[in-house]
Amino acid sequence: MLTVQSFFCLLFLFISSAHALYGYGLLRCQYTSAHDLVYLEQIYFNKVLLGQYNSTLGKYIGYTEKAKEIADDLNKSQSFLEQEKKNFEKCRNHLQLTFDLLSKPEEPSVKLKPAEIQSSRHEKVLICSGYNFYPKPIKITWLKNGEKVTTDVLSTEELSNGNFLYQIHSYLEFTPTPDEKITCMVEHASLSKPKLYDWEPMSEVEWNKIGVGTATLLSGVIANK
Ligand SMILES: *[C@@H]1O[C@H](CO)[C@@H](O)[C@H](O)[C@H]1NC(C)=O
Repeated sequence: MLTVQSFFCLLFLFISSAHALYGYGLLRCQYTSAHDLVYLEQIYFNKVLLGQYNSTLGKYIGYTEKAKEIADDLNKSQSFLEQEKKNFEKCRNHLQLTFDLLSKPEEPSVKLKPAEIQSSRHEKVLICSGYNFYPKPIKITWLKNGEKVTTDVLSTEELSNGNFLYQIHSYLEFTPTPDEKITCMVEHASLSKPKLYDWEPMSEVEWNKIGVGTATLLSGVIANK
């Protein structure tokens, strides 16, 4: 899994005086887990946090009497709140960029199984799904006895999970023949060489036992596109 990302965007204020008192502000973009992006604007004085804007709350909070007064004023200011919303968007964009630069590839977890959908021309539909991979580019190829299949193949785009990870689904329609080996080949930045997943018709009995949800899942995926 991806590790926790927390970093500072920018140091925006610095004051010093003869008594070595200092204050500073931090603009922080914090990403802790899926769907959990927080933009914080924090004001410190002598290392004590006086107040902060928290994008999850959508307002400024003061921790001292004076800071509470200032916070009240700021929260009444439409333009201040608008600006903070813009900063939050910037934070999101920067995170995507930082993620692209810092993160290492995540290997897709691949599932190959029969799909419970009617094929117009063929007996069977197989679905090869890759889950939770990063970065986005991926290539899924179907092989029949080692030869690339180009017809009767349909793929979704790389779909975002909303947490910087992606999933993809590829379908193959075919009519099974004896001694034919069907393989799903996955190529991705996380893999030093293409990874092969062979279809095991023997496991089909087991799939049929648990195959109820597949059709609804498929229509869900297509509807989401
Ligand atoms: C920001 O606000 C949310 C919602 O109240 C809270 O869960 C989170 O801990 C706050 N973050 C910080 C750093 O205070």
